[in-house]
Amino acid sequence: MNELAGKRFVLGLSGGIACYKAAELCRALLKEGASVQVVMTEAAEHFITPVTMQALSNRPVYGSQWDAREPNNMPHINLSREADAIVVAPASADFMAKLIHGRADDLLSLMCLARPIDAVPLIVAPAMNREMWANPATQRNVAQLRADDVHVLDVGQGDQACGETGDGRMLEADEILDDLIAFFAPKRLAGQHVLVTAGPTYEAIDPVRGITNLSSGKMGFAIARAAREAGAVVTLVAGPVSQPTPRGVTRINVKSARDMQAAVQRCVDDATVLVATAAVADWRPATQADQKIKKDGSGETPELRFIENPDILAMVAQSPRARAGALYCVGFAAESHDLLAHASAKRARKGVPLLVGNIGPATFGHDDNALLLVDAQGATELPRASKRELAIQLIAEIARRLPAAGTPQ
Ligand code: C5P
Repeated sequence: MNELAGKRFVLGLSGGIACYKAAELCRALLKEGASVQVVMTEAAEHFITPVTMQALSNRPVYGSQWDAREPNNMPHINLSREADAIVVAPASADFMAKLIHGRADDLLSLMCLARPIDAVPLIVAPAMNREMWANPATQRNVAQLRADDVHVLDVGQGDQACGETGDGRMLEADEILDDLIAFFAPKRLAGQHVLVTAGPTYEAIDPVRGITNLSSGKMGFAIARAAREAGAVVTLVAGPVSQPTPRGVTRINVKSARDMQAAVQRCVDDATVLVATAAVADWRPATQADQKIKKDGSGETPELRFIENPDILAMVAQSPRARAGALYCVGFAAESHDLLAHASAKRARKGVPLLVGNIGPATFGHDDNALLLVDAQGATELPRASKRELAIQLIAEIARRLPAAGTPQ
């Protein structure tokens, strides 16, 4: 899904061992449809060669402000005027210190200073030793950069090239890519707190067995990611699935429906939107054996009795905040047929303003889906697309339906 199609990046490399990750980042940006113009400091060229970066970006690399290839001899002006963003990755401690002082003694710092500040955002991915990162001077510089509207990405945590362990590693290329995609997403949910339930639940029979379903959690995780990209604070309550946590999302892992209910109850008072995508088991075994139920050779089979699980969505939808319009509830319905009729009936039964229908067997575990949105105004179809694309569209649809900020509720 070329998520950065047509975007023009200047990728600046300052000196640091994390330069090797800039090579991967360059490839990843091109794969998403962006173009990349690489600018390197002299220090960066000690870590990775311009040849590598030229081959990956398919463009000559710039390193000097005296580069005569530009007809007007002003690469710092020409390169920054063409860019949608300048991304400095890695941004060394020294380079960040230069930025806050407006120093301009090499092409990269000169270009950052000369960029049209309102039109060309500057995004930096710091990379350094943990002591350098923790040093008050660096932390002061980070705060000053943020105050100057520079977008400073987080740092990673873990083993460092110097042999120490701690904060200060540069994020991995795929993490920076996700952050750049998020950076350009319209902030439709700024100021909102979105609570998402996702995945199946697991209802134990005994310590080693249980019942669950085939929900992969992909749709809910994609919605959590899209909500975060749209500027919301996002909490994701996830049943047992193996999906990676979207960047910037707080994840709470649960197993059973009752765990999920307890987690939702703990978080829901802060939420302004609930999107319930979880395939919660309707029933759980009435009793749970403390020990494994053994086959005793008699040929007798154990009797399983079930009791109904709490309906988390219906419960939340009945809460005073939801009824007053302070919490917008979105339900999902996985049906096998008659989608519109079943989704409309479920919307009324659950008491939610928006119900999203999909065909169960066509979605569980798949990477794509098709959605039918049913609200008080009628039905809207979101035709078959990847769950990623549908999640972005659904977030836009939800944002459109939220009470305008400042409207009395
Ligand atoms: O009743 P049904 O399971 O078809 O409803 C589906 C919708 O209700 C989904 O949004 C699901 O996450 C939510 N649900 C729930 N708690 C349950 C059952 C369903 O939150 N016990």
